[in-house]
Amino acid sequence: MQQILEAIQAGASGDDLANLPVPESYRAAFVKADEVDMWEGVESADKDPRKSLHVDEVATPELAPDEVYVAQMASAINFNTVWTSIFEPLPTFGFLKRLGKESTWGARHDLPYHVVGSDGAGVIVKVGSAVRNWKPGDKVTIHCNHVDDQDPTAHDDSMLAANQRIWGFETNFGGLADLTVVKANQLMPKPTHLTWEEAACNALCNSTAYRMIVSQHAGAMKQGDAVLIWGATGGIGGYATQYVLNGGGTPVGVVSSPERAELLHALGCEHVIDRKANGYQFWADEHTQDEKEWRRLGKDVRALIGRDPEIVFEHPGRSTMGASVFVAARGGKVVTCAATSGYMIEYDNRHLWMKLKSIVSSHFANYREAWAANQLIADGKVQPLLSRVYPLTEVGDATLAVHRNETEGKVGVLCLAPEEGLGIDDPAKREAIGEDKITLFRRAG
Ligand SMILES: NC(=O)c1ccc[n+]([C@@H]2O[C@H](COP(=O)([O-])OP(=O)(O)OC[C@H]3O[C@@H](n4cnc5c(N)ncnc54)[C@H](OP(=O)(O)O)[C@@H]3O)[C@@H](O)[C@H]2O)c1
Repeated sequence: MQQILEAIQAGASGDDLANLPVPESYRAAFVKADEVDMWEGVESADKDPRKSLHVDEVATPELAPDEVYVAQMASAINFNTVWTSIFEPLPTFGFLKRLGKESTWGARHDLPYHVVGSDGAGVIVKVGSAVRNWKPGDKVTIHCNHVDDQDPTAHDDSMLAANQRIWGFETNFGGLADLTVVKANQLMPKPTHLTWEEAACNALCNSTAYRMIVSQHAGAMKQGDAVLIWGATGGIGGYATQYVLNGGGTPVGVVSSPERAELLHALGCEHVIDRKANGYQFWADEHTQDEKEWRRLGKDVRALIGRDPEIVFEHPGRSTMGASVFVAARGGKVVTCAATSGYMIEYDNRHLWMKLKSIVSSHFANYREAWAANQLIADGKVQPLLSRVYPLTEVGDATLAVHRNETEGKVGVLCLAPEEGLGIDDPAKREAIGEDKITLFRRAG
C-alpha cells in the first residue's frame, strides 16, 4: 500500500496507478467471529470497542466485475461500527453468512473476521471488467448502499431491494481500512474543496438526513415547516439541521449541553432546547411513560416557535418516541431511522390517530439521493461536520467516544492519509465557501 500511497502523493496518472500491483493483504479494522461472546454479562454502556476492534493485515479479496478497489485515504466512524463492535443487537457475522450463500462473489464476505466501516474517500486503483463510468486515478467518496441490481426489487427505490445491505455493516471489506472493495454504484466524486477526512465523513449521515428531511420517500419537508431535531449536533442531526435551514424550514434542535447549544446556534439554528438542563423524564420508571413530561416538551417547543412541529426527526428511539409522537403537529410526521436507546418502542396511539399523525420509516438513501446529497456538499451548500480525527490505529478510541456520546458531528479516521489537511484540489472554491463554515465543528471538537 505504501507504493500506492507514494504514487497518489506524486500525482501518478490513472494508468500508472492501474499498473501497480494490488497488495495481497492490507491494514484494516475488524471484529472477530470467535469473540462475539466476549461481552457476556457486561452492560451495553460498559462494552469497550477498544477490546473488540482489531487493526491488522487481512487478505485482499478478489475483484468482481462490477467492483473497484479504492485506496482509502480516510474514513469515519458511524454508529453502526459501535453496534458491530459491541455485538448488539446481534453479531454482524449472521449478515455475512447470509450474503455468503447468495452467490460466488457473495461467498468472499463470509469470513471469521468482519472489516467494518461505512464511509470513505480515496482513489480508485483498479476497476472490474464491467465498470463503465469510473477509472483508476478517480478521486471518490463512497456511499454505503450495497445493492445487487440484477434483482427486480432493486429497480424502484433501491432501498426497497430485497438484497439491500449496508456496506461495512452487512457486508465485509468495509471502509475503516487502507483498501476497500466496493461496487461501482457506490461511487461519487470527491468534493474538490475538501480534505480527505472532510470528504470521507459525510456520505452515510448526510445521505440519511437528506432522505429523512428532503426526499419524497420520507420527510418531504416544505418551506415553512417546523422540524424538531433530536441530537441536532450529532451525526445525522447536524446534517438534518442544515437541510431544514436550506429548505426554508424552522429547525428546533435538541442537544444535551450548553456547548452543543452554542455550536448549534453557530450552525444557524436559532431555536435550541437543552434536554439535560430541562431535565425531561419521559419515562417515570422502566415501564411507565409520563405524559406530563411530553406536554412539558411540547410547551417548550411552542414557547420557542409558537406552534407544533410538522416533522419530528426521530432516532433516539425508546427514550423519546412517546414524546415525539405527542409533540408532532396535527397531521404531522415522525420520521424515524433508528433506535439508539432501544428498539422496543412505546407511544400513546390515541395521540397518533386522533390527530392524524404518521410515523414514517427511513433508512439510508438510494444512489440518486446519496448523489444529490454529495452534490450539495460539493457545491458548498451543506458543510462537512468533522469534529475530531483519529489515526486508524486508534479506531477503538474513536468508536468508544461515539459510543459514549462524547463527540459532535462526525469523527474522522485517517487511513492512508499520513496527516490531516491533505487532498484539497480546489483551494479557491474552499476560500469562496469559507474556511470558517467548513471547519466549524472541527474547531469545536
Ligand atoms: N437507518 C439509517 O440509515 C441510519 C443512518 C445513520 C444513523 N443511524 C442511527 O441513528 C442514530 C444516530 O446516529 P448518529 O450518527 O447521529 O449518532 P451520534 O453522532 O452519536 O448522534 C446522536 C445524537 O443523539 C442524541 N441522543 C443520544 N441518545 C439520546 C437519547 N437517549 N435521547 C435523546 N437524544 C439522544 C445525542 O445528542 P445530545 O446528547 O446532544 O442530545 C447525540 O449527539 C444511531 O442509532 C445510528 O445507528 C441510522
